[in-house]
Amino acid sequence: MPKKLRSNLIKVSVLTIMNKKKALIIYGSSRKKGLTTQMANICRNLLSSSNWDYDVVRAYEINQKPCIGCLECRKTGRCYIKDDVENVRKKLVECDLLVIAAPTYFANIPGPVKNLFDRLSGAVVDANTKPRLRKTQQYLLITACNAPVPFNKLAGQSSGSLRAMNEFCKIAGMSCKGKIALPGAQKYTTIPRKIEEKIGWYLLHT
Ligand SMILES: Cc1cc2nc3c(=O)[nH]c(=O)nc-3n(C[C@H](O)[C@H](O)[C@H](O)COP(=O)(O)O)c2cc1C
Repeated sequence: MPKKLRSNLIKVSVLTIMNKKKALIIYGSSRKKGLTTQMANICRNLLSSSNWDYDVVRAYEINQKPCIGCLECRKTGRCYIKDDVENVRKKLVECDLLVIAAPTYFANIPGPVKNLFDRLSGAVVDANTKPRLRKTQQYLLITACNAPVPFNKLAGQSSGSLRAMNEFCKIAGMSCKGKIALPGAQKYTTIPRKIEEKIGWYLLHT
């Protein structure tokens, strides 16, 4: 291969690697075969086949101590408690896309996901509640709930957990790519085709 062509090819490869978009996927269920885990896995496979870099955070598995509500983090941008949350903060600040897949528990998000949001409070807003993240950072929210259509929305079930996740992302200054709910979840052991297509559409075409 001619020298010039080879060096151009190397430059293009380096630029491609440098420009690779980054995603952060937060798994919000302890159930390894649960529905939100399966939906997060669909995202992971799609991103990987679309040449994205991605990191995974499992809210139930990381070492995260409870938020103590001191609000010091809003001044400094980070929580002073030493555990895995600082690593999550770094990934969050860098990512182009945040995916959160968490089940609906009592019309809300599970405790470990909520605590992670609380602990990341200073990473997303400052002392004046001004956003610290960028508009160019997008987010996709995913949940599953047992309440069937239309009660998942009318009774604030999946809409409750999506609202809680949205609150965290919106106040951070990020842009919403989409919100996906799988209602009537007890009927399913795998993800229906329609939902899989919806995930693909939101993830890759919006
Ligand atoms: C503690 C707990 C609370 C729940 N609360 C609700 C609820 O308020 N509304 C609802 O529709 N489903 C509720 N569910 C059902 C879950 O949302 C449903 O099983 C979901 O599929 C779990 O997601 P996963 O399969 O990803 O773990 C609850 C389940 C648990 C374990």
